[in-house]
Amino acid sequence: GSAGAGGGAGGGGGDDTITMGFAQVGAESGWRTANTKSIQEAAEAAGIELKFSDAQQRQENQIKAIRSYVQQKVDVIAFSPVVETGWDPVLLEAKRANIPVILTDRAIDSEDTSLYKTFLGSDFVEEGKKAGKWLVENTTGPQRVVELQGNTGAAPAIDRKKGFEEEIGARDDIEIVASQPGDFTRAGGKQVMEAFLRSTPNIDVVYAHNDDMGLGAIEAIKAAGKVPGKDIKIITVDAVKAGMEALAKGEINFIVECNPLLGEQLMELAEKVVAGEEVPTRVVTEEGTFTSEQAKAALPDRKY
Ligand code: AHR
Repeated sequence: GSAGAGGGAGGGGGDDTITMGFAQVGAESGWRTANTKSIQEAAEAAGIELKFSDAQQRQENQIKAIRSYVQQKVDVIAFSPVVETGWDPVLLEAKRANIPVILTDRAIDSEDTSLYKTFLGSDFVEEGKKAGKWLVENTTGPQRVVELQGNTGAAPAIDRKKGFEEEIGARDDIEIVASQPGDFTRAGGKQVMEAFLRSTPNIDVVYAHNDDMGLGAIEAIKAAGKVPGKDIKIITVDAVKAGMEALAKGEINFIVECNPLLGEQLMELAEKVVAGEEVPTRVVTEEGTFTSEQAKAALPDRKY
């Protein structure tokens, strides 16, 4: 561990405890809160010492946290990058210090794949496709869609947009008439939806890149005297409890699941990486989708 002799990654010495530095995005959504809890609980269960930092959705804070983990000579660094680009310099510092890096939840956009050992998380393009496919198959006639994007430059914002657009391309009468970032927060979703309701006539559908923004949009739709789920259909991604409750009530029409419970798999990967074992370079999480009926059935056992 970090206290071990020599201070090298996965070092020998008398101390077998693995120390992980985790640089979290923030606490922007219900999904993120569940993800953080999963990581903290899994570290504890695995006997891994966790150094945890919350970047409040700012890349510069995440870079500072990673740099400090390098200085502290942790055994492994894991992080969920707030945006895709701009990581090479700090990850190079980790590499030079022989500290392995694991990407969780979100990927980076870098040509140098030697900067990290593996990437554990969802296939966000696939999630966007599931959302688009539902719209194509469950509506008839022209559909004017407004899109609430995640934070600009984030992998899930880029990929969920891409996958959705690919699927709705199958129909000429589905059109995205407005698209703006709501930063994955409830307040952001509400604010952007209020602006859309003022500026964009005849909105049929909201496609929100996460539940929180969809829940914010519901507030804006109600305030405008319309009925969410009926006058305006809503599709979201995540399936956290608050989203599932709105889906069960019929205020959201369809949710694509994104699984935040990555903790256990992350700790297993960390143990292997620190031991110098081979790990797959990509580990994809398994996920489904929920209709209103399925949400009602799933809610009693929903953990987050
Ligand atoms: O990266 C995963 C996304 O980040 C979740 O879908 C969203 O809720 C979170 O903020």
